[in-house]
Amino acid sequence: MEISKHSTILVVLMALAMAHSSLAQNLPKDIVIVHNKARAEVGAPLPPLKWNETLANYAHEYASTRLAECKLVHSDSPYGENIAMGYGEFSAVDAVNLWVGEKPNYDYSSNSCKQGMCGHYTQVVWKNTLQVGCARLKCTNAQNSPQDYLNPHNEARRQVGVGPLRWDNRLAAYAQNYANQRIGDCGMIHSHGPYGENLAAAYPQLNADRAVKMWVDERQWYDYNSNSCVPGKVCGHYTQVVWRNSIRVGCARVRCNNGWYFITCNYDPPGNYNGQRPYGDLEEQQPAFDSKLELPTDV
Ligand SMILES: *[C@@H]1O[C@H](CO)[C@@H](O)[C@H](O)[C@H]1NC(C)=O
Repeated sequence: MEISKHSTILVVLMALAMAHSSLAQNLPKDIVIVHNKARAEVGAPLPPLKWNETLANYAHEYASTRLAECKLVHSDSPYGENIAMGYGEFSAVDAVNLWVGEKPNYDYSSNSCKQGMCGHYTQVVWKNTLQVGCARLKCTNAQNSPQDYLNPHNEARRQVGVGPLRWDNRLAAYAQNYANQRIGDCGMIHSHGPYGENLAAAYPQLNADRAVKMWVDERQWYDYNSNSCVPGKVCGHYTQVVWRNSIRVGCARVRCNNGWYFITCNYDPPGNYNGQRPYGDLEEQQPAFDSKLELPTDV
């Protein structure tokens, strides 16, 4: 993956958070410190970033236009721009840490990403970038909040005696990045990343609740005794939903160019391992299906 190298002089970053603002970790001072810590750790002298109020105002203005959907879409900005979205007490410092967490993906010698994303990180440590300004706002999006994804997952898990999933902002960022890549075709194509993954698409509407319901409805096709799907039916989305060892989830939703909606959820650790049941007694057993990379027939 090439890193975009447009001449970046300044960076604007935005943390669009969906819950109560916590006082700590959102001040300009905190944001500057966490950037400069990452810059100090590159092993070459980099000028520290300074806070810039013009950039912060720009970030605030743009973030304000995104509150309804909390979409991770870039502005038409003349500045460098990193965007993050989180849930709960997700702070600006959490957002910067998410980006700095991409560091292992960056390969300096080839100046490219090894795998996954690294462009947020390279912006944070971009040598010629001298100033930063950020804004953090709470989104108003109903229907597709983390809780809207979590509730139907956790209800299905509760019914089979499996503990709840919890929302993970890193997985949500991964899901959003991948969903953005599908805007052009809305294709039911897996990202083949390190996580479990359920996909859904529908026209002309699809929200979190309905997508998860489609997956949970496959419960009728899952035969626990043989640990397999009824022949000719798909049930691997359901078994991922209720997979006991999957404890974190992050999801994202985009509207594709053809008007369809695309939803992806990623699970960590991944589920649907051969020879294991999703829940209940975990004795080894040969399954009749391998749905880790099952062909999605969602919708
Ligand atoms: C802040 O950034 C703006 C936009 O690039 C720039 O015009 C301005 O000079 C900067 N302010 C300071 C104090 O450096």
